[in-house]
Parts: sequence; C-alpha cells; structure tokens
Amino acid sequence: MNMFEAIFSRKSIRHFRKEKVEWEVIEDILKFTDELPKLFDEIAIEFKLISNIEKKQGFHGPFSVNAPYYICISSEKGDGYLLNAGYMMQQLCLFITSKGLGTCFVGLANPGRGLKSTMKYDYVIALAFGKTDEPLYRNSLEAKRLPESDTVVYKEDVNADIRQIITAARLAPSGMNNQPWRFVVYKNRIHIFTRKNVLLYKIMDTNNMIDIGVMMANLLVAAEELWVDISISQLESLKNKPFQNNQYVLTVTIG
Ligand SMILES: Cc1cc2nc3c(=O)[nH]c(=O)nc-3n(C[C@H](O)[C@H](O)[C@H](O)COP(=O)(O)O)c2cc1C
Repeated sequence: MNMFEAIFSRKSIRHFRKEKVEWEVIEDILKFTDELPKLFDEIAIEFKLISNIEKKQGFHGPFSVNAPYYICISSEKGDGYLLNAGYMMQQLCLFITSKGLGTCFVGLANPGRGLKSTMKYDYVIALAFGKTDEPLYRNSLEAKRLPESDTVVYKEDVNADIRQIITAARLAPSGMNNQPWRFVVYKNRIHIFTRKNVLLYKIMDTNNMIDIGVMMANLLVAAEELWVDISISQLESLKNKPFQNNQYVLTVTIG
C-alpha cells in the first residue's frame, strides 16, 4: 500500500496493543519526518517521538487516545504554521498507515507541560500510532463524510483526475469530523475556503486551519500520484473579499 491508497482505506484507530513496534519501522518513520515536504518552507518545525511502552511519559488525560506511541509536531509561530503542521502530520499519518499500523490524531489532549517544555517550538498536534487488533482499513464509501454537494461547487466541467483529487481531499480526517473545507472548482484552479463559525470563532479558527492543512496533504498526495502539476498561492483579490459564511484560505492552480 502506498500513501495514495492509504487515503482511500484509512480510518482512525483508537484501540492499540501495548506492544513495541519494530525498531526498523520506527527508524523508517523518523527518517520520513526528515524528508517531509512543507507547505511553507520558511517555517521551522520539530517532530518528537514519545513512547509510553516502558513508562507513561505523556498523553494520559481523560480525553486522550491511549496508544503505545505518539509523534508530536512543534512549530515556530508565523503565518500559515497551523496549515503547515496539519499538512506535514497527515503525510506522516498516511505513511504510517501504509506501514500497516493504526493511527489517530490527538487534538483534544496534549503531552503535558513537562514534555512540552522539551520541545523546540510551540506544540501543535500529535498523532497516536501503534499495532492494533482492529481492522486497519475500510472501503472509502464507508467513511462518514458530508455529501459532495455540501462542500464542493463545480463552476466548470472538470476531468476525472480533478474529481479524484477532490474526493481524496474530502476523505481527509478532521477534528470531530467537522470537515470545515469548502471547494470552488474550475478546470484550472481550486479555491479553498473554510467554514466560518461565528460562536466559537477563535477556537474553531485554530482547529480549522490544522484540518485544512490535513486536507491539503491528501490533495497534494493525490495530485502527485495522478501526475497533475499543481501550485499553491493566495490570491489578494479573494483574500480581501468578504464572504458571509466562509473564509478564503488558498488557491490550488492546476497545470
Ligand atoms: C486535527 C485533528 C484532531 C483530532 N483529534 C482527535 C481526538 O482528540 N480524539 C479522537 O478520538 N479523534 C480525534 N481526531 C480524529 C477524528 O475524530 C476523525 O478523523 C474523524 O472522526 C473521521 O474519522 P476517520 O478518521 O475514521 O475517517 C482528530 C482528527 C484531526 C484531523
């Protein structure tokens, strides 16, 4: 299984065996973190692996997912750092899934103050992983996702590759399965928006940006697999335009 296939078959795993993962696999995962592409190159980040196998080091609160391993990302704060962290973590999540291990993002709990203070930058999010007895994969049709018509507007007829890229993006995991992404799709560009949540605006804003970054990883992995050339930018014209229910995030230009 490669990362593209993992997009379509992955599901969150919340029950793990309390068992070591082979050192070679852990090494592969750590090596992969060193080679990961960023969404924004100038933002410095650090990954930190936490093992709860020998002793409990972190993530033991009531809202945590109980797992043998967690990988945390800490990041320099700056424009787009949450998008970037989500983007990097989801690539890692797909990679770990492709190695036959279960994964679950952990947004509701954190490693604790002691561990956080050992991180180079500001802690953002973690991914729990390990061996599981549960079925690791499912058919993508079983994933609970909003209907396409709720999140995508096709302004023009697009080819099968673009449709598959959108499907891959929609299958991304998100905090509380919120799926805050909205797509406006043309033949040669996809504008990406996030749903505004007026009541919980500040908190949701943070979570939404991590989710959008996670979704961007699916979108970019799918584009690469299908040999579709894309680039990412922010259009000033849309950035400054007020939209009632949505906030503009970025534009993917195709070709
Ligand atoms: C940023 C982020 C944070 C998440 N936080 C948690 C969490 O704290 N606890 C949990 O059980 N699941 C968490 N999840 C997993 C989502 O609940 C899950 O992805 C979503 O319900 C869709 O299910 P699926 O991943 O099986 O398709 C999180 C996912 C993301 C992307």
